[in-house]
Amino acid sequence: MKDRKDFNVNIVLMGCPGAGKGTQSAKLQDEFQLKHISTGDVLRAEIASGSELGKKISGIIENGNLVPDELMISMLENIVKSTDKGIIFDGFPRTVAQAEALDAMMKRLGREITEVIMIDLPESEVVSRITSRRQCKKCGAILHVNPEAPLTKCPACGGELYTRADDTAEHVKRRLEVYHNDTLPVKNYYLNSGKYVEIKGNQTPEKVFEDIVNVIKKAK
Ligand code: AP5
Ligand code: MG
Repeated sequence: MKDRKDFNVNIVLMGCPGAGKGTQSAKLQDEFQLKHISTGDVLRAEIASGSELGKKISGIIENGNLVPDELMISMLENIVKSTDKGIIFDGFPRTVAQAEALDAMMKRLGREITEVIMIDLPESEVVSRITSRRQCKKCGAILHVNPEAPLTKCPACGGELYTRADDTAEHVKRRLEVYHNDTLPVKNYYLNSGKYVEIKGNQTPEKVFEDIVNVIKKAK
C-alpha cells in the first residue's frame, strides 16, 4: 500500500462556521505532510500585524462578512506559489467567483484541485461549538472548552488562549447567513466535478478524520 506521506493532493475543505475545518486541517497536515492554508487565519494574522490592510479588513471580519474576492484571491495566490507541497484550502473558496479563480490559478501553476470535501454539520450545533471554542496564541491549537470552567492556558504548550472576535452568538448568526447566501452555491459549482464528497460532521473528531482519510485513499 502507498505510504500516506506519498499522497499528492490539493484538497478544498468546505463546511459552515464551526464544522471542524480547522480541527481536521491540523490533523491532515500532519498525516499527509500538506500545507494548510486557512484564509481566516491569514486574514487574522494580517489584522494582528497592525498593517493598513489589517485595519481595513478587521471590521469586515469581526462582523462576519466576507472580504472582497479580488483581495482574497491575490493574497492566496502568493501563498500557493510559495509551496510545492500538496495543499489543504480551509475556508477558500467561499464564493463562486473565488472557486472559478482558484481553478484558473491552479491551472496556471500546473496544479489541480484533487478533492472537495464538505464537512456537513447541522446548524443546531454551530452556536454551541463556536462559543465554546478557544485558540492558542502560541501553537494555534483549537480547543473546545467548558464555558462554565474555561481553560486559561493551552494544555499542549502553555500558550495563552483567546476567543475570536467573531465568535459571539450574534456574529455567528451573520456568518451563517453569509454562508447560506454566498458559500453554499460553491457546493453546486463542484457537485458534478467528480471530486465532491460529503462527510458527516456530527461525529467525533477522530471519526470525521477517519472518513476524510478514507476519501483521500479511495481517490488515489
Ligand atoms: P474562518 O476562520 O474560515 O471561519 P469559519 O468558516 O466561520 O469557520 P471556523 O473557523 O469558525 O470553524 P471551523 O470549521 O474551522 O471549525 P473548528 O475546527 O475551529 O473565517 C473567518 C472570517 O474570515 C470569515 O467570516 C470572513 O470574514 C473572512 N474570510 C475567511 N476566508 C475568506 C474568504 N475566502 N473570502 C472572504 N472572506 C474570508 O471547530 C469549531 C469548534 O468545534 C472548536 O471548538 C472545535 O474544538 C470543535 N469541534 C471541531 N470538530 C468537532 C467534532 N467533530 N465534535 C465536537 N466538537 C468539534
Ligand atoms: Mg477555522
